[in-house]
Amino acid sequence: MKFTATAPAKINLSLRILRKRDDGFHELSTRMAPLTLADRLTLECCGSPGTFHFTCSDPSVPSDESNLVVKAFRAIERLRGPLPGMAIHLEKCTPHGAGLGGGSSDAAIALRLIDQAADLQLPQETLLSLAAELGSDVPFFLMDAICDCTGRGEHVTPVPGLRLQWRILLIKLPFGVPTPWAYAQWKDSLEIPGIDYSEQEIDGTILVNDLERPVFQKHFILAELKHWLRHQPGVRGTLMSGSGSTVFAVLAPEANLSALETGIHDLVGAEVWLQETHLAI
Ligand code: C5P
Repeated sequence: MKFTATAPAKINLSLRILRKRDDGFHELSTRMAPLTLADRLTLECCGSPGTFHFTCSDPSVPSDESNLVVKAFRAIERLRGPLPGMAIHLEKCTPHGAGLGGGSSDAAIALRLIDQAADLQLPQETLLSLAAELGSDVPFFLMDAICDCTGRGEHVTPVPGLRLQWRILLIKLPFGVPTPWAYAQWKDSLEIPGIDYSEQEIDGTILVNDLERPVFQKHFILAELKHWLRHQPGVRGTLMSGSGSTVFAVLAPEANLSALETGIHDLVGAEVWLQETHLAI
């Protein structure tokens, strides 16, 4: 038997850090939204019971026990004992180190697929708590909705009635930002004069990200990119997603994408990854 599912990327529409906690994590208030950009997972039931084989289209993604998909399988195995033999192949489209939740989404969707393939019918609360063990933003990807997330990000509440038909341009420079580093720098970081970190409002939704402060201090090019984008015609708002390095722009329907892409290449170079996408709701 074969099972397939898509694992959507996300952006943080807002990310407010409330305080550093005693366990080293940061208490958050963040609103996350799924995107139509997605990885694709295929699960095949094969091999002897208890065996698990993981492959990925992107050779730079580790395929050992450190991979979150493999960790998802192990988490269910610990809970339920030996599982039927299975293999998962991951077709990677979302870049990593990007603040787009790629690895977390793969983990969440793997939990769902493994549950389905082994016919475990685990309750959503069980899947959510396994997801929270795998990573702070993994539970969000089990909700298929825009969510307000609190705690370290693992307490997820769908936002009812929020239907945003946004056209989004994702811009990722050829470097990633390690999430633990970004959080660790947050408290002592400073704003760069002339860069606007304040709230932007689009269709009643606030865009703001407290992690821009530490990340922009180290990677000034991201601050320059945001500043430039904000002054382009057809750009309704722009923000870094999560801990970066992706900056996104919310585009008006009349925005000239190719003019924007040319301007971005002139500003940051040809190595940049650009992707048009939409909110998946
Ligand atoms: O939960 P996750 O494994 O994705 O977190 C990666 C790292 O990011 C944590 O080890 C921590 O250093 C940092 N983090 C944090 N506060 C959060 C979420 C993540 O400090 N709310």
